[in-house]
Amino acid sequence: MFMKGKSIIKTISIFSLFVATIQLPLAAQNGEATFKQSCGVCHSIGKGKLVGPDLKDVNKRRSEEWILKFVKGSQAFIKSGDADAKAIFDEYGGMVMPDQNLSDDAIKSVIAYVAEQSGGAVSASVAEATPSQTETKDTANLADLILKGRLYFEGNTAFKNGGASCISCHNVNYKDMIAGGVLAKDLTNCYARLGGDAGISGLLSSPPFPAMTQAFKNNPLTQDEIKALSAFLQDVDNPQAPQTAGMNPLLIGGLIGFMILFGLILLVWNKRKIRSVKSDYHGRQIKTIN
Ligand code: HEC
Ligand code: HEC
Repeated sequence: MFMKGKSIIKTISIFSLFVATIQLPLAAQNGEATFKQSCGVCHSIGKGKLVGPDLKDVNKRRSEEWILKFVKGSQAFIKSGDADAKAIFDEYGGMVMPDQNLSDDAIKSVIAYVAEQSGGAVSASVAEATPSQTETKDTANLADLILKGRLYFEGNTAFKNGGASCISCHNVNYKDMIAGGVLAKDLTNCYARLGGDAGISGLLSSPPFPAMTQAFKNNPLTQDEIKALSAFLQDVDNPQAPQTAGMNPLLIGGLIGFMILFGLILLVWNKRKIRSVKSDYHGRQIKTIN
């Protein structure tokens, strides 16, 4: 029995050694691919923070061992009492970086890739992954786009691939919009925090959160839908933004309309008898008595 257990362990360790040896060269090549696939949604290299911190020069800020621990299990690492891990977690508002189910070698190759990209050259891959859509938004279409995004968010327009409406899990504070689900975070102020269009579109293209991955895995959002949702979330986050000025005439129009209506009502009332009919009788009666 004892021997049997031992030999199983032996077989397993030989097997994992075998896996590790074939993984090593693969992983070395795949630093870039792994980064794009597993980290790029939340991290840039030298392009500013997205969901998580900019990883430029992280290899200089942190030891390899530290990064390995953080990437494989940030929460466990924080609970173990590491002050730096706790500090960066707090800095990001207690946002949990999902544990990455990657081998040490895969993570090391990502670190190598990050180090290489931190070297000064602008990361082509990140530039690709985070296209700046801000320029392509012309104000004429923006109000339309925001409305489109809102209709998607609320589920009034179905997603092309049939994904779940955002409101079923998320709430936002927005003009006369009904309350959304509480399963996931309130998104009222997510736009700026997540790095604007680049952050939102990266996140929605391949949602890194298990519940959302599940919801959109077989029903991916289209680029048009993402663009509209991003415009909507921007408007939610900052309703004072100039592009929402388009909404103000509506409010003013409403006020003017109300005042005209009010004036009309006064006019109509004016034409009516101000005193009651009875007061006429009353006056006559008073006269006859006298
Ligand atoms: C769902 C988003 C998300 C994904 C995916 C993600 N991270 Fe993070 N990461 C974060 C957040 C948020 C933080 C900030 C710390 C925290 O809140 O725990 C962080 C922090 C880090 C840190 C610490 C940075 C520092 O300055 O100390 C490293 C290193 C890191 N991530 C590496 C990675 C790597 C490598 C991958 C891919 C294998 C990855 N992350 C995938 C969200 C993510
Ligand atoms: C099945 C439920 C579900 C649906 C549907 C869903 N989400 Fe999420 N979403 C989540 C969960 C869970 C998270 C992880 C953060 C958390 O714990 O709340 C998340 C996170 C996010 C974040 C990051 C929030 C932050 O502040 O870090 C954004 C942005 C987001 N979702 C947008 C959307 C949009 C837009 C839609 C509609 C296309 C959508 N979600 C649909 C469950 C969902």
